[in-house]
Amino acid sequence: MVTDGISKGNGPVCHVPVLSETVAEWVVRKPGGTYLDCTVGLGGHAELILERSGPGGVLIGIDRDPAAIAATGARLVRFASRMRLVHGNFCALKQHLKSVGVSEVDGVIFDLGVSSAQLDRPERGMSFLADGPLDMRMDPSGGRTAADMINRLPERELADLIYRYGEERYSRRIARAIVQARKSHPLRTTFDLVSTIKSAVPAAYRHGRIHCATRTFQALRIAVNQELDVIEEALRDAAAVLAPGGRLCVISFHSLEDRIAKQTFRTLSQDPGACMNVLTKKPQVPTEEECRENLRARSAKLRVAERLSERRVA
Ligand SMILES: C[S@@+](CC[C@H](N)C(=O)[O-])C[C@H]1O[C@@H](n2cnc3c(N)ncnc32)[C@H](O)[C@@H]1O
Repeated sequence: MVTDGISKGNGPVCHVPVLSETVAEWVVRKPGGTYLDCTVGLGGHAELILERSGPGGVLIGIDRDPAAIAATGARLVRFASRMRLVHGNFCALKQHLKSVGVSEVDGVIFDLGVSSAQLDRPERGMSFLADGPLDMRMDPSGGRTAADMINRLPERELADLIYRYGEERYSRRIARAIVQARKSHPLRTTFDLVSTIKSAVPAAYRHGRIHCATRTFQALRIAVNQELDVIEEALRDAAAVLAPGGRLCVISFHSLEDRIAKQTFRTLSQDPGACMNVLTKKPQVPTEEECRENLRARSAKLRVAERLSERRVA
C-alpha cells in the first residue's frame, strides 16, 4: 500500500497540485464551459481550469475545509466573477450545485485526501512531524476529533480501524499501547501518539524508511473525516450531473481510495443508464520528474471516465 507520500523529514511546505496539466487537458473540453472541482483545496487545479476555460468558463469549487475556501477565494480573486466557492462536503454535490444555480457541468475533478496546507499546520494535528492537538478534522466545525477516538474507542475497534484504514501490520500492538497509555493520562497531542506508537513497534520498524506513525496517522485521519464512506456516492452523483462529452477525473493517493474509484467507474461503465465510458484502462501516474519535484505525487493515480452522448442499449 502506498501512503500519503510523507516520509521522515520531507514534508512539503505548500500545496503543489498533482498532475495538474494532465487534469486540465482531460477536463477542459471547451472554453466557456462550467466545471466542478469537488476538492478545491488551495485552488491549484481550479486555477488552471479557469485559465484554460477563459474568458467565459465558470468553476464551482467545493471544500469541506473553511480555511481552504477562504484561502482560495483570496488567492484566485482575479477570477472572482467566474468562480463560485462552496463550503461543504462533496457528498452533497448536487445540493451545492443547486445552491449556485447549476444543474449540469462539463467536467469534474476530485483530488482526494488531504492538502499539504492541512498537513503543514501543526494546529490541525494531521502530521506526525510537528506537535499539535490530536484534531485531524478537515472541517473543524463539527464531528469527532482524533483525540476523541484515541481516548474512547475500545482496544479492538481501535486496532481494526488502524488495520483497515492504515493497513498497519502492528495495529494490535499499537492499539494495546494506546489503551495502556491512556490509563494514566489521555493522549492529547500528536507527539503523545507518536511516542506511544514508537513504544509499541519493533526497533527495525521504528527506524524504517517510512516513519512508523505514517499508517496510524493515515488511518485515524480517514476515520475522523469518514473519507472513504462518501466517495462512491459522490462519484455517481458527479457522473449524473455531467453533460454529454464531459469528463470525470479522480486522483487518489492510496490503494483504498483508488480501489473505490476503479470499482465505481467499472460499475458506471456497465450500467447503460449511467452512460459512462472509462477512458483510462490503467490509471495515469505522474512522470518521474514530477515525483522528484513534488514528493506527494509519488503515490498519485488518475482515473478518467467520460459521459457518453447517447444512451447505450443494454
Ligand atoms: C488534495 S487536496 C486538493 C488540492 C487541490 N486540488 C489544489 O490544487 O489545491 C484535497 C482537499 O479536499 C478536501 N476534501 C476532502 N474530502 C472532502 C469531502 N468529502 N468534501 C469536500 N472536500 C473534501 C480537503 O479539505 C482538501 O482541501
